[in-house]
Amino acid sequence: VRGAPLIGIAAAYGLALAAVHCDGHDLKALRQCLRDAGETLRATRPTAVNLAWALDRVLRAVSSASTFGEGVAIAVRTARTIHEEDIEGNRRIGRLGAALLRPGARVMTHCNAGALATGGYGTALGVLAAAHEEGALQHVHVNETRPLLQGARLTAWELRESGVPFTLEPDSAAGLTMRRGLVDAVITGADRIAANGDAANKIGTYQLAVLAHANGIPFYIAAPTSTIDLAAATGDDIPIEERSPDEVLCVRGTRIAPEGVLVSNPAFDVTPAELIDAIITENGVARPPYERTLAEACHQGVPAHG
Ligand code: MRU
Repeated sequence: VRGAPLIGIAAAYGLALAAVHCDGHDLKALRQCLRDAGETLRATRPTAVNLAWALDRVLRAVSSASTFGEGVAIAVRTARTIHEEDIEGNRRIGRLGAALLRPGARVMTHCNAGALATGGYGTALGVLAAAHEEGALQHVHVNETRPLLQGARLTAWELRESGVPFTLEPDSAAGLTMRRGLVDAVITGADRIAANGDAANKIGTYQLAVLAHANGIPFYIAAPTSTIDLAAATGDDIPIEERSPDEVLCVRGTRIAPEGVLVSNPAFDVTPAELIDAIITENGVARPPYERTLAEACHQGVPAHG
């Protein structure tokens, strides 16, 4: 399971399953089952804050139960609610984001922030889907997204399925494509957004934002409020997942680099807020100063639990 919103949804269903299969009869046993499963799930990936957000939401909701059966039912219901809200929120993000694009827009995106990374519609790709439905999208430039190729394997597949015209390009072609005047906007998803608007997303996003800035192209992030971590003051507080060297040393199981080389394989980078023109959430489009606008987005209509 990958993609910040989907990681959160899967974690919530994971807790629901732990509740359903809990071998006990009282609330104490249920809480222990959920604590154990929650710890295991929480340790799976560090960067996407949707994981902790979803786990905490289910645990908080279950804490209001007065019987074992009620607790199980609340866990299942909350997981379903998180899933349904994500799809609904994505559609709102899609509509709000599409309104930022001019008719005939040509947009670059990175990694995969579509139905495969969310509850079923997409954040950045949701914006592109909505713009396509409105007939406002001319073309999408899809970065391959090394080293795991989410762009080539997932985004290209999703766009082809929905009939959106696109070109798949090496990550390293982004500067040339922008310089040639082929990009009107860049839109990506995010895995965690700090209170000041610094946004962690798939590795390579930061350099796209720098390139967009250098070429006078607006750079947008599309993400649900469950991706905003107001407890992280800046991007420096966001943990960056370091992944296996083999993802860089090998291609489809075949080693391509010499023995003994040192590898750095960070899965995410942080784009500083000053390079982000707007952050599109289900609760509205946040613009600088992000300290105020992101807090407003988070506190508007986000339920405390359940
Ligand atoms: O494949 P992952 O889980 O490592 O990738 C994370 C992401 O999907 C992205 O960074 C994405 O662009 C934002 S989450 C929809």
